[in-house]
Amino acid sequence: MKKIALFLASAVLAAAACSGPLSPQDKLTVNDKKINDLIAQMTLEEKVNMLHSKTNMSSAGVERLGIADMNYADGPFGIREEGQPNGFMSAGWTLDSATYFPTGSALAATWSEELAYKYGTGMGKEARLRGKDVILGPAVNIQRLPVGGRTYEYLSEDPILSAALALKYTKGCQDEGTAVCIKHFAVNNQETNRGSVDAQLDERTLREIYLKPFERAIIEGGAMSVMPAYNKVNGDYCSENEHLLNEILRGEWGFKGFTVSDWGGTHSTMGAMLHGLNVQMTGDNYLGQPVIDSIATGALTEDLVDEKVRQILRVRFAIQPVPADVANTVMTSQPESQQIAKEVAEKSIVLLKNQGILPIAKDVKKIAVIGQNAVLKTQSGGMGAGVKALYEVTPLEGICKRAGEGVEVTYAPGYKTISFRWGPAPATLAPLEARSNDEPADPKLVAEAVALTKDADLVIFFGGTNKSIETEGSDRKNIKLPCGQEELIQALYAANKNLATVLISGGPTDLQVLEPNSPAIVQGWWNGTEGGTALAEVLFGDIAPSGKLPFTFPVKLEDSPAYAMGNFPDPNGAGGDLFSLMFRPDVLKMSNEERQAFLASLPKPVSKYTERFYVGYRWYDTKEVKPMYAFGHGLSYVTFDYSDVKAQASKENVQVSLTVKNEGSMPADEVVQVYVARPESKVEWPAKELKAFQRVSLKAGELKKVTLNVPMKELRYWNEESNAWELEHGKLQVLVGSASDDIRLNTDVTI
Ligand code: GLC
Repeated sequence: MKKIALFLASAVLAAAACSGPLSPQDKLTVNDKKINDLIAQMTLEEKVNMLHSKTNMSSAGVERLGIADMNYADGPFGIREEGQPNGFMSAGWTLDSATYFPTGSALAATWSEELAYKYGTGMGKEARLRGKDVILGPAVNIQRLPVGGRTYEYLSEDPILSAALALKYTKGCQDEGTAVCIKHFAVNNQETNRGSVDAQLDERTLREIYLKPFERAIIEGGAMSVMPAYNKVNGDYCSENEHLLNEILRGEWGFKGFTVSDWGGTHSTMGAMLHGLNVQMTGDNYLGQPVIDSIATGALTEDLVDEKVRQILRVRFAIQPVPADVANTVMTSQPESQQIAKEVAEKSIVLLKNQGILPIAKDVKKIAVIGQNAVLKTQSGGMGAGVKALYEVTPLEGICKRAGEGVEVTYAPGYKTISFRWGPAPATLAPLEARSNDEPADPKLVAEAVALTKDADLVIFFGGTNKSIETEGSDRKNIKLPCGQEELIQALYAANKNLATVLISGGPTDLQVLEPNSPAIVQGWWNGTEGGTALAEVLFGDIAPSGKLPFTFPVKLEDSPAYAMGNFPDPNGAGGDLFSLMFRPDVLKMSNEERQAFLASLPKPVSKYTERFYVGYRWYDTKEVKPMYAFGHGLSYVTFDYSDVKAQASKENVQVSLTVKNEGSMPADEVVQVYVARPESKVEWPAKELKAFQRVSLKAGELKKVTLNVPMKELRYWNEESNAWELEHGKLQVLVGSASDDIRLNTDVTI
C-alpha cells in the first residue's frame, strides 16, 4: 500500500507541478514542444490509430515511442466494474468493487462546493487504483424534463448550481491526477430518441442555461476532455458540431484538451474531422482507414490529424500513466472515499414536510417499515452509470442498526417493483413501458402492510421509483408513483396517522395523493454506499437534515415548461431512434454509405426549446404556477433567522452580506441562497434567478455573518443582436432566502 500511496502522491505533484500564471486550459500546452517532436516521429498510421477506440474503454497510444494507451472508466458516481475488451459485459474481476457515491441529483442537493470537490477527489483516486486515466463524468446536463431518464445522474435544473458543483468536481478529480471527461456536450436533456433528436434552441438559452455548467468546468476547472452528446443541436450532431466544438469550446473558451464521442455517437469522417472530434468511441469505421484515404485524396490534411493528436497528447502528458504493477492490485473502494460518500449522503437528504413526526421520538418502541425501496439496492442498473459497490447500506439496514436493542423494527414490502439489469446492448432496446411499473396495488401486499402498521408507534413508508424506471436510454412516461404506491399510502395512513414517507428516487415524483396522506416527507435519493446509514442518522435526529432541492417538484407533470408548451413529447411523433437502431444486426452489417442512406431515410425527431430560458423555477415563478415543492426547498429540525442584509456593487461583483442565526437547540446547516430580479429591466428576464449560495454550519443558538459574491459577469445576458455577453445597467433586486419560494430579506443595488 506504501508504494501506491507514494505513486498517488507523485501523481498529485505532477498535476500541481505546472501551476503558475497560465490559465487552467493553457497549462495543458506546457509540453507542446516535446509533443511536436514526438508527432514528427510518428507515422500517419500511428497518429490515426489514436483517433479511435482500441478496446471498448481505451484508445491507443504509440508503444514504439513509449506513449501509453488512454484508459477510460464510467462514472460519474463510482468507477464502473471492469468490462470485457470488446463490450460492456463484466470482466468478472474481484478487486474492482468501488465506492458507490450518491448520484448526481443527491450531490447537487448538498449545495456544497466543498463536498463536490471532495467527491471529485474520491473519484479521481479510485480511478487511478483501477489504472484509469479519464473518468467519463461529471454528467452535468440541465434537468429540463421532470421525466428525464438521467435526471438522477445530472445535477440540477439550475445552471449556476450545476456549474459551481461541476467546477469543483472537476478540480477535485484532476487534482488527484485523473482527467474528467465532462458530458454530454451539449443540450442532451432527454433520452427519447437521444441518438437522433435535434434539440432546437435560441443562442441566449443555449449560453445562459445549457452551456453554463460546461463553461465554468472547462475555463476555470481546466476540464481536460469533453464528451459530445448523441443528439443534434440546431441541425448538426454534437460530435461534428462546428458551433459547439470549434467556435465555442475551442474558439471562445480556449479548450486545449480533446473530445471523445459518446459510445456510438460518431457519424462521419469529414464531419468529425473538420468540426471538432478527436476520438471515435467505439470503432474505426470513421476515424480509422477513411481518414488515411481522405488524406491520400487531399480531402483532409495531415496537419489536421497532427492537431488532433497534439490535443490528445496534451492530456496524455498531463496525466501520469498508472504503472501496470500498481493498477488493480488493491480493492478499488477505499475507506476515505466511503467516508466522503457518507458525508455527501448526510448533507443531501431533503426534509420536504414535517408535522411533528421527525426526528423519531425517544419513546417510539415499534417502527413498521413498509416498501420494497427500503431494501432495494440502488448501486447498479440505470445502464452506463451503474456501480459494483464494495457494499451498500440499505435504508432498512440503516434503521435497524441505528434503532438499537430497545426498538422493534418490522418490515413488509407493500408493493413489488419490476426491475431488471441492463445486459449487453440488445438488438433493439425494447420500450421500457413494456415492463412498466404501473400495475395497481397488490391487495395481499397492501393487507400485509396495513396489518403491520396496526400497533406500530411509527410507520415509515418507502416510496419512489427505481433504476428500471429512471434510467439512461429512456424517459419516464409520467412522474406518478409506481406500483400502486398511491393506493398503499392511503391505506397505511388510514390505519396509522404516525407516518413518515421517504422517497427513494433520482428525480421528482407526483405527490398529489401522497402529500395529504403523509405528515412527514423526506427525499432520500439514490444515496450511495452509506445511504442507509445517513438516512437513519437524519430520521433519528443525530443530525439535522440540510439538503435543498436541486430541482422543482411540480404539482403535476403538465405544469412543467416543456409539457406546458407542448414541446415534449415530440408532437410530430418519434422518429426512428438512432441509438437503438445502431445496434440492430442488419444495420451493423451496413457499409458507411448504406447506413447514412438508411438513417437519412428515417423521420427526424425534433425537440423545440421554445420555453427558452424559462426552465425549472424560472418558469414556475414567472408564470406564477405554484409547485408542490420549490427549487431550493428543504426544512431542518431547527429554524434560522435572517437579518441585516447589505449589498454593494463594485466593478467585479455584487457583494451580499447578512447574518444567519440557528434558533434551535441542535447544530444544523443552512444553505443561504441569493437570487436576483430586475424590476425595471428593458431586457426580458425570468422573475428571479439564482446567482450565489453558501452552506453554513451553525451550533445551537449561533449567529454567523455570511458573505456571498455575485461576479458581475454572471449578471450578463447573451444579446442576440450583438451576439455577445452584455451587462444591463440599472437597479438589481437582491433576494436572500432559504429557498426560491422562501425569500427572507431583500435589498436593492445599482449595477
Ligand atoms: C453511454 C452514455 C455515456 C457513457 C458511455 C460509455 O451510452 O451516454 O454517458 O459514458 O455510453 O458507457
